[in-house]
Amino acid sequence: MGENGMAGKRRRGWILTAVLLAGWLSLALEGCAGRQAPQKRYLRIGVVMYDVNDTFLSELIACFREDAKSLQTEERSINVTVRDGEKSQRTEDSCVEELIDGGCDVLCVNLVDRTAPSRIIDMAMERDIPIIFFNREPVKEDLAQWDRMYYVGSDPEESGVMQGELAADYIRSHSGVDRNKDGVIQYVLLEGEPGHQDAIIRTESAVSTLTREGVQLEKLSRQIANWNRAQALTKMSQMMTQYGSRIELVLANNDDMALGAIDALRQAGITEGSRPAVFGIDGTKEGLQAIVDGTMAGTVYHDKEGQAMTMAKLAAALYDGEDLSSFHLKDWTYCYLPYQKVTPENLEKFLER
Ligand code: BGC
Repeated sequence: MGENGMAGKRRRGWILTAVLLAGWLSLALEGCAGRQAPQKRYLRIGVVMYDVNDTFLSELIACFREDAKSLQTEERSINVTVRDGEKSQRTEDSCVEELIDGGCDVLCVNLVDRTAPSRIIDMAMERDIPIIFFNREPVKEDLAQWDRMYYVGSDPEESGVMQGELAADYIRSHSGVDRNKDGVIQYVLLEGEPGHQDAIIRTESAVSTLTREGVQLEKLSRQIANWNRAQALTKMSQMMTQYGSRIELVLANNDDMALGAIDALRQAGITEGSRPAVFGIDGTKEGLQAIVDGTMAGTVYHDKEGQAMTMAKLAAALYDGEDLSSFHLKDWTYCYLPYQKVTPENLEKFLER
């Protein structure tokens, strides 16, 4: 083999080495790029509440914020923005418009007027933003308009039945409730907003459960206090002026109104033995404390933790494009979390939450 031949071979050898090296380098670089952290994604959740001052809902949203934080991963951050509908559907519609304009991937909507979601649905559909309605349930026909709408809440009838059962047990085991010993329990009702699915259904099912349980009832009065403690105080004071010590039982559609009734009794200086038995629903922090203090006779736990976590997980799954079968949604739309009776045996568990 001559010099030329050797040089040619060497040259070919170098060329081959260079080509191999370049190939190896590009593979190595590609490999590095492949291992680079993927671009972080940001899930922006826009929440609107009918009224940020509502006790149960503000406790629920506090849980939701924590849950959203806990569901963050290295690849996906979650940002929650909460806006106040200020008890006006028009204001709430504007809040949603602003949230969408500002950039939003999933909406969580607590309607002011549960029969008027159209404007919000139209805006969300236009930008393909899924909606999780919560606590105030839109009518079926509205939810059927689009397959990217969901509802997270609880079954109002269940809470009413439980309240009725708790009250019946209490009346059976506390003979002093029937203060005038006429064998009939004189009662008053404090109700939430008319039109809210939880108001009318809770009342009806609590009263019919008491009757089914064999408790003889006489309704003295039914007052609307819109879920609100101050309004309940006023309404209870008025009923006390009218019926005085005849009131033996107060059934309130939620804890805040039960607490308002207790405030009225306290203000009027009614002593413990002469007070009616007061029942609420929700198990809010102050509601549970009233059970501990013995001023409220009973409540039904409304699972804000469960509802908040379901909403947060659903929002993340919708954003990630995951399959939703693990949510076991009824009609691919509804998730109802169960209520629980608060009893002396399980009270501690709820206080720790
Ligand atoms: C809760 C109330 C709350 C209302 C607001 C109900 O489900 O029990 O405490 O005020 O929802 O929509």
